[in-house]
Amino acid sequence: MTVAEILDSMDYGPAPESDAPARAWLAEHGHRFELFIGGEWVQATSGARFDTLDPATGKKLATLAQSGERDVDAAVAAARTAQPAWAALGGHGRARYLYALARLVQRHARLLATLETLDNGKPIRETRDIDIPLVARHFSHHAGWAQLMETEFPDHEPLGVAGQIIPWNFPLLMLAWKIAPAIAAGNTVVLKPAEYTSLTALKFAELCREAGLPAGVVNIVTGDGATGELLVRHPGLDKLAFTGSTEVGRAIRAATAGTGRKLTLELGGKSPFIVFDDADLDSAVEGVVDAIWFNQGQVCCAGSRLLLHEGIADRAIAKLRARMETLRIGNPLDKAIDIGAIIAPVQLQRIQRLVEQGVAEGARLWQPSWACPTEGYFYPPTLFTKVEPASTIAQVEIFGPVLVSMTFRTPAEAVQLANNTPYGLAASVWTENLNLALDIAPKLKCGVVWTNSTNLFDAACGFGGYRESGFGREGGREGLWEYLRPRFERRLPTYPPDAPSPLPRMPVAAGLPAIDRTPKLYIGGKQVRPDGGYSQPVVAPDGTLLAEVGAGNRKDIRDAVEAARNAEGWARASTHARAQILYYVAENLEARAIEFRDRIMAMTGRTKAKAAAEVAAAVRRLFTYAAWADKFDGAVHSPPLRGIALAMHEPMGIVGALCPTELPLLGFVSLVAPAVAAGNRAIAVPSERHPLAATDFYQVLDTSDVPAGVINIVTGARDELARVLAEHAEVDAVWYVGTAEGSRIVEAASAGNLKRTFVNHGRARDWFDPIQGEGREFLRQATQVKNIWVPYGE
Ligand code: NAI
Repeated sequence: MTVAEILDSMDYGPAPESDAPARAWLAEHGHRFELFIGGEWVQATSGARFDTLDPATGKKLATLAQSGERDVDAAVAAARTAQPAWAALGGHGRARYLYALARLVQRHARLLATLETLDNGKPIRETRDIDIPLVARHFSHHAGWAQLMETEFPDHEPLGVAGQIIPWNFPLLMLAWKIAPAIAAGNTVVLKPAEYTSLTALKFAELCREAGLPAGVVNIVTGDGATGELLVRHPGLDKLAFTGSTEVGRAIRAATAGTGRKLTLELGGKSPFIVFDDADLDSAVEGVVDAIWFNQGQVCCAGSRLLLHEGIADRAIAKLRARMETLRIGNPLDKAIDIGAIIAPVQLQRIQRLVEQGVAEGARLWQPSWACPTEGYFYPPTLFTKVEPASTIAQVEIFGPVLVSMTFRTPAEAVQLANNTPYGLAASVWTENLNLALDIAPKLKCGVVWTNSTNLFDAACGFGGYRESGFGREGGREGLWEYLRPRFERRLPTYPPDAPSPLPRMPVAAGLPAIDRTPKLYIGGKQVRPDGGYSQPVVAPDGTLLAEVGAGNRKDIRDAVEAARNAEGWARASTHARAQILYYVAENLEARAIEFRDRIMAMTGRTKAKAAAEVAAAVRRLFTYAAWADKFDGAVHSPPLRGIALAMHEPMGIVGALCPTELPLLGFVSLVAPAVAAGNRAIAVPSERHPLAATDFYQVLDTSDVPAGVINIVTGARDELARVLAEHAEVDAVWYVGTAEGSRIVEAASAGNLKRTFVNHGRARDWFDPIQGEGREFLRQATQVKNIWVPYGE
């Protein structure tokens, strides 16, 4: 036998990481843990307990407390008590604690990595080299944000108390993603780890004590979904952040509707891994290994759909199968193991069920020839070919080591396949042609795109989804907005209830009935009659009938969505072109300023000066967004690798805008202008009471080169149309200004496709005030950030 042959056939020897320190730590605690509330270990009042197991052996590691209602109450109360002093400590004070936590994580890195592997079943190589270093990096990066808080986020304040619920796939890393930005910004938290993986969170609680973190800043309540639900429904929170399944995310959106609580959801995915025929195939195959077998595929952004250019598909599949044969599955504490254990029997069964379904639906299954360990919960790496894009395994998040592959012929077809899912978390694009990669990246509907790479994460780069993968970002400046609010918000007065309209009276002109005026709806650049054939009166404060406007209904909204869909080119129009058109709109509005002023006076009964001031403010606001159109740039992040991450501001898509009752012109412009400046198409429902300022606006739009379908206007009952817009699957965001109840309706109805909402919760902004009525806050709502990672170097 030659040396080469020996090296080829030689088996791996065992290379186990010692779990003795982790087991000693468990023993020190008697394999029994309580809750961490107000800086103390507190017994759960419920008395109920559950076990946490080692998925690699199925053996018990420790027993944990199931938090009940009184425990969650106590944790929220502790966080509430601690919050004012924590915020008052200031950025530098908080930075010192976050820095201390980062250092403590580093000092206990090996213990944390081993404990995580024991509790979760993922390979020690991953916890040691990825999870725990990223945890330290997250605290250290956010120590920096705490330090810079006052100068970088002036006029903003912490939200208060945040409830945070995390999953089991990256237990300590998800804790870091949640806790670091929250406390850096001056919030306090109650965190619930997943029931399968609470141990590193409990060790982290000890580190908080070691760091001398003030009592109550971080509270940890263990328990299952029932505890999660108690937290979700707790009235004492100002913010909820959740990572987990889309199903639970949807329930949380519905449960928190109308509470005024800020919400971020980081949910599931079915991310495409696209390989073009000029890609470096060997690198791409290694990429696939990372994309779908990292953490046994139990990763929200796992590259679980392999899309292969037709010409290289056979070759790629052959290489992939050969590589799969060499993957090593087994004891996750072994440093030479690639694939560890599945978290729990329930997850294993779910994977098995979906794989069986894939076979039943006609896809071709392939698994390596070797067998999995029989002890513990293991599943082999699995590859499906001949997969139909509409089949279950191509659509449903399997959350296991199962890859489905499909082929495409053209870049356009690749994009179409990639976007053929309700999710939108991440994507990988493999090609040696940078032009192609950077052309494809913006067309993918997802929050993260990795070019010639996969599963790259960094604290400085935002992470989060489009569509049903949720909303909000974690990481970097992008993520901090989720834990802050403008200072003025707390002091906003209640939105005035709509006063009843006086009964309409027919006007007379020189003894004769005035000529009838019935403005129609404005859809796709045309004036159209409302579908229902109903209209509603618009009256002056003295009851004089000014006009009848169409009462829009579900079908009118459907038509408006279709028109908006057809105007998709607006998203790709140059920012310069968008700016020019907004300036043009402003110019044409000003040319008719007197007409608008008189119309506002007639509808609202306000003085000439006040009506003129509203028109002037609307013109100014249009100028503001024309100015912003080509300036709301993204950022270039510099994560610690050879490469960059481009944080692009992309439009949401179709935005429904329910406009305020008062200030019928300024309110309308304040919502529509930022939406379209950022490249969205808008469906606006103007002031229900005073809609004529918006219907007069049709002519301004017609004369200002606004492409058909970019701005659509449907008059009618605000809250009724709000619900229709919020329920519509093709509407990407809904903005609502009105009552608290209307805000609740919008948030509840948005749970269907998890669209982003921006509602006023029954509070009244001063639309004349530029701090409250315009600027970056609106542009952030009008956009979503996509991080495109571009590693470089030969
Ligand atoms: P899950 O969404 O039920 O659990 C995530 C967290 O939410 C856990 O802490 C859990 O205790 C908590 N939770 C469960 N029900 C809740 C409720 N009604 N209210 C509040 N909190 C609740 O996910 P699970 O059951 O662990 O996994 C099921 C499937 O979800 C997986 O097969 C996978 O497809 C997906 N998943 C996706 C994750 C992601 O990061 N995208 C993470 C975990 C699971």
